[in-house]
Amino acid sequence: MDGIKICEWTNEIPFEAIHDVLVAAHANSNVEFDTTNLTCDELNDRLTNGGTVFIAMDGERVVGTMTVCTEHKKMWYANGVVARLRFLAVHPEYAGRHIASKLVDACAQRAKEQGITTLLWTTAANNSAAIATSKKNSFILVDYHHFARLNHDSVSLVRWKNLSWLSAFRAKVYYTLRREKILLKRSFRP
Ligand SMILES: CC(C)(COP(=O)(O)OP(=O)(O)OC[C@H]1O[C@@H](n2cnc3c(N)ncnc32)[C@H](O)[C@@H]1OP(=O)(O)O)[C@@H](O)C(=O)NCCC(=O)NCCS
Repeated sequence: MDGIKICEWTNEIPFEAIHDVLVAAHANSNVEFDTTNLTCDELNDRLTNGGTVFIAMDGERVVGTMTVCTEHKKMWYANGVVARLRFLAVHPEYAGRHIASKLVDACAQRAKEQGITTLLWTTAANNSAAIATSKKNSFILVDYHHFARLNHDSVSLVRWKNLSWLSAFRAKVYYTLRREKILLKRSFRP
């Protein structure tokens, strides 16, 4: 892959380099992302707190990042321990080179080693790039959320080890109903 290497972040690489990639990637997208307002130390805490941070390197340069962490979920689509994929960013100069997909692979491999079969990914509902990337990596939309206080909508996507037609159907119905309910409620608001 054009000399791009995916590896686990270690202290040898300054955390600022990861911060820079997140800021550059989000500055280039139309999606607001509160993580970019955090200081480097705050971001370090959030990313490394119980999670594994993967980075994409072009030689000495950090050009992408994604974190995987475990959490408990109790939903029909994710019941038990799941691997949550977070903080994905690829530097705009490196977009479209499947670096995000390689980072997803690294996170998925880590989850597999831990015996986790369900991957969960949440992103802003209007983040078309992230949704396209997740779908290309076999995630399917399962849920729609609205955070009134933040005036923010997000979607959840799941990748199961084995996707049955029944789960795919259930996800489609559940996601559509959740989304329609939220959008309908909003349309009646004065
Ligand atoms: C989302 C993001 C990480 C994608 O990185 P990337 O390395 O360019 O993505 P990839 O090259 O791995 O793309 C994977 C697939 O998704 C598709 N895709 C990626 N971005 C897309 C976009 N903006 N529109 C449509 N499809 C897109 C690609 O075409 C590719 O499909 P292909 O295999 O058929 O070619 C990058 O755009 C980014 O950093 N965005 C800003 C930060 C962000 O939104 N992070 C996600 C937070 S949850």
